[in-house]
Amino acid sequence: MIPLANPKVQVDSQREEILEAIAKVFDKCQFIMGENVPVVEEKYANHCGAKYGIGVNSGTDALVIALTACGVDSGDEVITVPYTFVATTEAVLIRGAKPVFVDVDPVTFNMDTSQIESKITEKTKAILPVHLYGQCYNTEEVNRIAKKYGLKVIADSAQALGAKRNGKGIGETADVAGISFFPTKNLGCCGDGGLIITNDEKIADKAKYLRFHGMAPGSYYYNHVGYNSRLDEIQAAVLNVKFPNLDKWNTKRRENAAFYLDKFKDLPIELPIAEECNYHIYHQFTIKYNKRDELKSKLAEKGVGSAIYYPYPLHLQPAYDFLNYKENDFPITERICKQVLSLPIFPELSEEDRNTVATSVIESIQELEA
Ligand SMILES: Cc1ncc(COP(=O)(O)O)c(C=O)c1O
Repeated sequence: MIPLANPKVQVDSQREEILEAIAKVFDKCQFIMGENVPVVEEKYANHCGAKYGIGVNSGTDALVIALTACGVDSGDEVITVPYTFVATTEAVLIRGAKPVFVDVDPVTFNMDTSQIESKITEKTKAILPVHLYGQCYNTEEVNRIAKKYGLKVIADSAQALGAKRNGKGIGETADVAGISFFPTKNLGCCGDGGLIITNDEKIADKAKYLRFHGMAPGSYYYNHVGYNSRLDEIQAAVLNVKFPNLDKWNTKRRENAAFYLDKFKDLPIELPIAEECNYHIYHQFTIKYNKRDELKSKLAEKGVGSAIYYPYPLHLQPAYDFLNYKENDFPITERICKQVLSLPIFPELSEEDRNTVATSVIESIQELEA
């Protein structure tokens, strides 16, 4: 079976180096806030165009802490999307704030910025858009609206490490952004890990305190009610070994995407479209097709893995009943949840496997259309 993602090949390609780096952590036994964490913070933040990086223990916590550092609190409203991984909404709710959804654009899968202004109230504190599947949302428009209404922009950049828009990295197009190092992300660690990036010194300082119980390390003096959410030193060591490959791996994903886009151009499916101003890093290669479930089954029969990101709109999830949304509130999200299918795009996909994926998709669709 060709899997949708294969973190094992990536880890195996640097297994010795990774184990050596971990052994060095064991030699020092400085497991919390060791020497690897600041290196990760500097390298990854700078790569994204941000001055400051704050290592935390997951992409979810990166969002929660970023929201906290921006002053989002109970009773506030945060404008976000119902078509994303649940952590985006969860982070807002963990702060006691209310997620106010706007629909997404059917082509880019990202926030439909034309809907934002109609949702702004006096309670609105921030906008939380997502660079979904590795393609930047319309950062210029979000920033224009945020400036007009005095709102903060917190970018869910969990899937977008290395993505750019108009030449700008994800660290320079929002007040603050949260990255995930979940193992199947474009660059993942060997467990959970995340990073907050920002060019705002005040947000950076506050986030640094917040991830460490609200205190300067070792001071036992608490400026803020905080969290225990430090980037683990072992994970930081892994991330430093992997960092030099980030651009190469993203380039390979883009090559795989270009290959599929060419192979699938005549099929009766909707292909992912990268806006010209975007450097899309294809965390997912997601097609839309009306017979999505049948296609998924046929691919599985042919030994090709695929996945549905995301099968259910967040506004219709039982956990979020209390938000009082109903069916047809966000028709684009509801439609694409029934159509989307993500195909294997990971950088280590062999040429043979890539061909097998392409041929299997083409044959399956021909069978379904016959
Ligand atoms: C869009 C999005 N937001 C947030 C997260 C949360 O990241 P993590 O799993 O590292 O907490 C993820 C990843 O899983 C994600 O894909």
